[in-house]
Formats: sequence, C-alpha cells, structure tokens
Amino acid sequence: MSPTAQQDGRVGDRIENYTGFWQKDMNKEKKNDTDNRVENYTEVINGYYDGATELYEYGWAQSFHFSRFYKGESFAASLARHEHYLASQMVLRPGMRVLDVGCGVGGPAREIARFADVEIVGLNNNDFQIGRARKYTKKAGLEDQVTFAKGDFMKLSEQFGENSFDAVYAIEATVHAPTWEGVYGEILKVLKPGGVFGVYEWCMTDRWDPSIPEHKALAHEIEFGNGIPEMRPLAKAREALKTVGFQIEHEEDLAERPDVVPWYYPLEGDIWKAQTVWDYFTVWRMSWSGKLATHNAMKLMEVVGMLPKGTWDVGEALKVAGDALVRGGQTKLFTPMYLVVCRKPQN
Ligand SMILES: C[S@@+](CC[C@H](N)C(=O)[O-])C[C@H]1O[C@@H](n2cnc3c(N)ncnc32)[C@H](O)[C@@H]1O
Repeated sequence: MSPTAQQDGRVGDRIENYTGFWQKDMNKEKKNDTDNRVENYTEVINGYYDGATELYEYGWAQSFHFSRFYKGESFAASLARHEHYLASQMVLRPGMRVLDVGCGVGGPAREIARFADVEIVGLNNNDFQIGRARKYTKKAGLEDQVTFAKGDFMKLSEQFGENSFDAVYAIEATVHAPTWEGVYGEILKVLKPGGVFGVYEWCMTDRWDPSIPEHKALAHEIEFGNGIPEMRPLAKAREALKTVGFQIEHEEDLAERPDVVPWYYPLEGDIWKAQTVWDYFTVWRMSWSGKLATHNAMKLMEVVGMLPKGTWDVGEALKVAGDALVRGGQTKLFTPMYLVVCRKPQN
C-alpha cells in the first residue's frame, strides 16, 4: 500500500492493476474475457474509481453522471435538473428514508435531499469516494440528513435488512453490477412493500447488435474506459427488473428525446458548443488541448508522488471512454439515461 492509501482510502496496487487487468483480459488466449471481469468486479471497479475520482471531480462535477441539455442551460443546472427529474418521477416526499445505490461523492444525494426534503443514505463500495462524500456533505451542512455507508450493492439486504427504505434510486451505477438480477433483487428486498425504485441505467440500445464487430468493439471500449464488467442491452435491464418482481410504472430512454444539444456534447470537447461562458472551461478540459494539458500535469504529479501510481493510466482509459461514449451517443447504440420507475408490490 502506498502512504496515500492509508490516509484517504485509495489502494495504490489496485489502481496500477486496473490497466494490467484489462491487458490480461484482452490477451490472445482469453479475448475479451467478461467472466474474469464479472468475477473480479470489486477489485476492477475500485481500482478504476481510486484512479478516476479526482479526474471526474476536476473535469466534470461532484455528480458523476450525464444529463440532457436545453439551449443556454448551464452544465451545473442541467445536472441538477436531471436529479430533480428522477426525484419528481419517483414522487419523493418529505421525510422519506431513501437509499442512493452507488452514490459517488454524494453530489446527487445532497441535491435530491435539498430538492425533496428526504433523508438519504448513500451506499458506496469505494472508501476514497465515501471519505470525500462525507467531507463535502459536512461542508454543505447536510450531515444529519445525508449519511454514507460503505458496502457492496450486491449485498444490500445483509447490510440494511429487508423492508428498510421507502424509496431507492441509482444513478448510472448499477451497470457496474456483475448481474442486473443480482443488484435489482437486492434493491427489491430492502424496499418496503409499495416502495419505489428509480434508475438511470447505462445500456446498449435495441439498435446494438453484438454480432456486428464494430458494435461489439464499441461496447468493449465503454467497458474498458469506465470500469464496467459487461455492457448489456436495454431489454435485459427491463427483463431483469420484471424477473426479480418489480412492477414497472414508467420507462423511457431519455437519450431518444429530440434534443438540440445532445447529452454527450461536453465530451466532444468542442468549445463552440459550450452553453454558457462558465462552461467554456468545462468543455475545454475535454478538448484535445485540455486533455493534453491535464495528462501532462498528471504524469508529473504521479512522478513526484502527488498522485498514486497508475492514475495516469486510468486517465488514458478515460480518454478511450470519452471517445466511445460520444460514438455511442451519435449512433444511438448506447444510452446513459434509460429511466425506469418501478414499484415493489404491496404483498
Ligand atoms: C458513475 S459513478 C455514479 C455515482 C453517483 N451515482 C453519481 O451520479 O454521482 C458509479 C458509482 O457506483 C459505485 N459502485 C460501483 N460498484 C459498486 C458496488 N458493487 N457497490 C456499491 N457501489 C458501487 C462506484 O463506486 C461509483 O461511486
């Protein structure tokens, strides 16, 4: 373990292992070995987030998700609106006890707590992110309303007990699960009867055909660039929700809306598409010159020990992610915003 690891929860070895893991995964004998990734999901995902968290915060925001955009709408406003939209579709009411599954550094939890006046428990398997989530929440004065717990979303009922939340939501997190049936089944268990689950899921759309090599390659780049064991089709998410016992009340792929400003625009790095003056800087960080500047600075910081070893490599994986996500968005083969609102039956 590096000294940083003991202080802030990051584990140097697993950041370094992230890229190595995928190299092994893609070697000639075991081409694209999803089984290996699914079995080792905790190490792979934690290695990825140990390396990627600071980059996400620097290049994006404290909310690690995408959103739709309206013309002239700032980046921060659109992220918040996306969170409010989920909360309102779920009809969250003041006083409800709500679980945020895969909560990142708590950006959405703080925003939804303020918006809907609910009590939120953020669940995350990554120590480094939990530490940051607690720090930001204290700074926001929300520590009595928004708390955080370390744990694996594949074992929710073991940790929280059955029937313990009025509502559960997950924003762009459950794609990291080794199986959707596994994580959705656990969410169903911890919900009270009649409780609501709302999710923004990452999926390959119905246009995606894994027998087409370019489609398969796109899914693999998204997996590698984002620490995802296996990209799966949207129909499989719907089927998994029903199989575990949810009643689907509303579903929509929000990426299908005819938006003038597409959800992936900040990743394109085209500063002329920035919607507000302030957002020029956010978009610039995704441009080729912004990426070059960041990656050189990161290399230097890694060499002098300010960043754990392997962070630069994870940054390289993030570049692959950015390009693949834009391609997935342009071709509509991929969506990061398949919205489902569903309910646990009363009996
Ligand atoms: C893309 S981030 C989204 C974070 C947050 N929902 C947001 O929108 O800011 C995915 C999150 O899922 C968490 N995660 C991944 N696998 C997990 C698991 N098995 N158990 C708990 N959390 C997990 C990651 O640590 C990360 O915080």
